[in-house]
Amino acid sequence: MPHKNLENLRSQRWFAADTMRAFAHRQRAQQMGMAREQFLGKPVIAVINTWSDLSPCHAHLRERATQVKAGIIAAGGCPVELPAMSLGEVMVKPTTMMYRNFLAMECEELLRSLPIDGAVLMGGCDKTTPGLLMGAISVDLPIIFCPAGPMLNDRWRGQTVGAGTHTKIFWDDYQAGEINQAEWQSLESRMTRSPGTCNTMGTASTMTLIAEAMGLSLPGAASIPAMDAAHSRLAWQCGHNSVDLVWRDRRPSQFLTRASFLNGLVTWMAAGGSTNAAIHVLAIAKRAGIDLTLAEMDGIARKIPLLVNIFPCGEYLMEDFYYAGGLPALMTRLTDHLDLSAQNMMGQTIGEIISTAKVTDEKVIRPLDKRVSPLPTLAVIFGNLCPDGAVIKPFAFSEKFLHHRGRAVVFDSNEHMLNQINDPALNISENDVLVLRQAGPVGAPGMPEWGALPLPKKLLQQGVRDMLRLSDARMSGTHFGSCILHIAPEAAVGGTLALVRTGDEIEFDYSMRSLKLLLSQDELSQRRKDWKTPPPIYARGYGKIYLNEVEQANLGADFRSLTGTAPTPEPPIY
Ligand code: FES
Repeated sequence: MPHKNLENLRSQRWFAADTMRAFAHRQRAQQMGMAREQFLGKPVIAVINTWSDLSPCHAHLRERATQVKAGIIAAGGCPVELPAMSLGEVMVKPTTMMYRNFLAMECEELLRSLPIDGAVLMGGCDKTTPGLLMGAISVDLPIIFCPAGPMLNDRWRGQTVGAGTHTKIFWDDYQAGEINQAEWQSLESRMTRSPGTCNTMGTASTMTLIAEAMGLSLPGAASIPAMDAAHSRLAWQCGHNSVDLVWRDRRPSQFLTRASFLNGLVTWMAAGGSTNAAIHVLAIAKRAGIDLTLAEMDGIARKIPLLVNIFPCGEYLMEDFYYAGGLPALMTRLTDHLDLSAQNMMGQTIGEIISTAKVTDEKVIRPLDKRVSPLPTLAVIFGNLCPDGAVIKPFAFSEKFLHHRGRAVVFDSNEHMLNQINDPALNISENDVLVLRQAGPVGAPGMPEWGALPLPKKLLQQGVRDMLRLSDARMSGTHFGSCILHIAPEAAVGGTLALVRTGDEIEFDYSMRSLKLLLSQDELSQRRKDWKTPPPIYARGYGKIYLNEVEQANLGADFRSLTGTAPTPEPPIY
């Protein structure tokens, strides 16, 4: 394995030479109060921190960064903290997904443009994990991902309640009149009890588990609660180990193989993770030069039992998963499906990592013969409505909708849907199919989590709690319901979804993985001729760049010019 020495440390290109420019770099470092000995001849480690005052899941990361830095200093490195775009999932509009690629670009260019030898990436709230990893993998410097950790468990009236999942449940109950105004208001301070990422198996937990399974985090990291003292120790370890990685020149390209990605997919399926992972894993894989497809994900999902009993599919929360042994323990149940020779960033194999792991609570991490659901975590659907694919979370479906034929009720945008859905005059029954379009990567834009369309209030009051819904949007990993998501191509680029009209018949067949708009080819062709491309929403700025660059969901929704592994030159120092 290649090793670094002082002369070929990347940072020393900035600091070490006897030139006027290097003099200026040393001078400016000292302007910040750094002694020469702090940065000269030492690996400079970036602590990329997605903390902000509007990112509640990362509220503790500024404090944790001090521990990361302490670890770096203890190992003989020089820490530099670099703030990066903080994507607080709930606060950012129109959706954090619109800015995932922005964060990826920011992370990549921070690492490339500055005197950095390696990095600790601090994130966890949904898009921050893929955003940071996509950017850092494209630069290919030694990295460790330090997950923010899940927030603490909460209870309400004796019942375990989880972030996101119970918000949706209680909202439907409130709409149906089963929760009163005072109770609804009191719930504002519940379910999100501490800093940390959603404690359910939402996108954050799914992506941090996948990152760990791929070897990008230290063993066990993903499940350590944000407020546990072990999380501070994890932060220190990330900093400490990052220096070693630099001296060993241990970059993602040296251990991130196809097997690493497949291990990530196996973990996702066993954990009952979010459908959002389909997009993010595809995007990360393309940055690493690994070919993956939606169809392959379906094949893996069919084989892997759902074992993790956490909301929204189960009964427990991430803190319980930590007590049950975390990811290494889960992996002991999956040895027939994992490549145990795959390595993490430190060079440990998965086999070595799990050799001492043990499941300590079988209610949370189930044995193979007691899977949480007979249905898998993911299914990939094709058909004339989604020729490039769509995804569903089968275990979250009502059984009666796994094979369903119904009348479409179409909404042309989220705004249209919100204006119409509770109109008492809306002609709708529980067996109709709710259709939302203009909610994809280009159409919304940014592909927000609008895919769990709200049910009409009048049906909620009749006791209806699920309907078949389909869209080109995403759905929060914390939610559930009979929702067909990520339809590709999306309506805004002329996908068949753009041609559906209220009253059309739609047929979904889970066992065939098929979604059809039951119209003749002639009728579809005529409608296609009449269809016009909607005008772009953004005429300038990041929005315009995004619209010009973003790919469809089945390809990972990255920017076309950011995918792939074509080399980017190091910046000249002069
Ligand atoms: Fe941050 Fe759910 S809102 S992880």
